[in-house]
Amino acid sequence: MTTIRSARTTDADEVARLYDICVRTGAAGGDATDLYANPRLLPEVYLGAYLALEPGLAFVLADDDDRPVGYVVGTTDTRAFAERCEREWWPALREQHPLGSAEQGTPDAKLVELIHTPGLMPDAVVDRFPAHLHVDLLPEGQGGGNGRRMLETLFDALRARGVSGLHLGVDTTNTRAVGFYEHLGFRPALPDSDWLYGIDL
Ligand SMILES: CC(C)(COP(=O)(O)OP(=O)(O)OC[C@H]1O[C@@H](n2cnc3c(N)ncnc32)[C@H](O)[C@@H]1OP(=O)(O)O)[C@@H](O)C(=O)NCCC(=O)NCCS
Repeated sequence: MTTIRSARTTDADEVARLYDICVRTGAAGGDATDLYANPRLLPEVYLGAYLALEPGLAFVLADDDDRPVGYVVGTTDTRAFAERCEREWWPALREQHPLGSAEQGTPDAKLVELIHTPGLMPDAVVDRFPAHLHVDLLPEGQGGGNGRRMLETLFDALRARGVSGLHLGVDTTNTRAVGFYEHLGFRPALPDSDWLYGIDL
């Protein structure tokens, strides 16, 4: 039996658990533990800022012992979030991980580059779908409608804040996630993109 609740974003143990979930689902939906020398890099890039800057939009799927087995995080306004990250999230990480600090050509090095040059979404995507999300469930949390319930929880929170559209990016090799998003009604956010999806809320 699982339940959905707000993430305890100031609880260090819970944040560590969520960071771990990010790594264990970070290889196109599978375990990325062996891909990265530094296990904090992936969650620092794809999870930490949401927990720190958008705590009201962070939800976890918790097991019988109230331990998170998945999360969904997001932001209402992708542009404003990127600006806040420039001020409040990236500077400390840039100091901690200077360009060139990870072995060249490794997945770690790609994440260090992203810390220094985060990608920006095209205007056409953000104008129509201003919000975005990340969802990751451990294998024991997947299926039975848990992913759908997690997204609906976030959608409800976004609608309550007046948001009308949301986008997300997906690794095209993650066929399970692509099928899931399409089943839920997501469609390509740009005519020529196979990895950016959008949905009207
Ligand atoms: C992707 C993920 C969030 C989906 O959640 P889930 O719990 O496995 O999926 P659900 O059980 O909620 O599925 C909801 C619906 O989608 C359908 N569905 C799920 N996967 C599908 C697929 N690959 N193709 C078509 N339909 C699919 C289900 O049949 C279900 O249909 P219904 O509600 O109409 O009965 C989850 O598997 C996951 O976290 N995977 C690992 C991490 C990951 O890949 N994250 C996404 C990164 S972009």
